Amino acid sequence: MGLFSKRRDTAGQLDMSKLPRHIAIIMDGNGRWAKKRGLPRQAGHAAGAETFRRIATCCRDMGIGHFTVYAFSTENWKRPPEEVAAIMSLLEKYLHEAIEKMERDGVRLRILGDTSVLSPELRALIAETDELSRHITGMQANICLNYGGRDEIIRAARAYAEKYRETGEPLTEESFAGYLYTAGIPDPDLIIRPSGEYRLSNFLMWQSAYSELYFTDTLWPDFTEEELRRAIISYQHRDRRFGGIK
Ligand code: IPE
Ligand code: IPE
Ligand code: MG
Repeated sequence: MGLFSKRRDTAGQLDMSKLPRHIAIIMDGNGRWAKKRGLPRQAGHAAGAETFRRIATCCRDMGIGHFTVYAFSTENWKRPPEEVAAIMSLLEKYLHEAIEKMERDGVRLRILGDTSVLSPELRALIAETDELSRHITGMQANICLNYGGRDEIIRAARAYAEKYRETGEPLTEESFAGYLYTAGIPDPDLIIRPSGEYRLSNFLMWQSAYSELYFTDTLWPDFTEEELRRAIISYQHRDRRFGGIK
């Protein structure tokens, strides 16, 4: 039982008046999904990219304001170069298509992470995506790419130190948050981790301080709208106290 003992909380109806403002997902389990089918790992990543499209659309249709996914971590460079290359090429393909459809889809895309080390092709696509996103409205979908929570905090600390030398700006939780990749984005209310792992793997370390966590054994490529609804229903049963009492 343990983590799943409260799973009966996923029964019942979704309350559309109590939706999370921001949902974040660790898109994990692509490799195991492929292995189960005797396919190469990259086939799992391709299937996972399709799931992203599907679930982002569900979130948009429900009226979720912010949707953030973990696509590639600062630790994922440890993988074989062929796998890293396959993931990067999928991301390129995805951004190409997304740029064409962004306006029609009503999804503003942003890439969060250290993009400076990515290929010039990918960086050009990211710049184009940013430019386009500025002019359209709709749900904001953030793709964390070469993202690490600790790396983000270190970078923010360096940027703050530099600013401090010029302006003496005092450091507060609010002002520090303005130096993170997620500046201006509300903290995630709900973080979903598929694939049966119970960890955050360096995802949104600062921002997750009071996030509600939802774990499921489903592998990301198999994740469905139904599962998303179950996660949101579970979230809606939680008592968020933020350290206070009720
Ligand atoms: C998540 O799936 C995608 C990335 C980390 C890029 P994995 O590739 O980690 O899949 P598993 O965990 O090996 O099944
Ligand atoms: C987390 O998954 C990173 C992404 C989904 C992008 P990993 O597969 O890298 O995490 P660990 O290694 O199991 O913690
Ligand atoms: Mg994994």
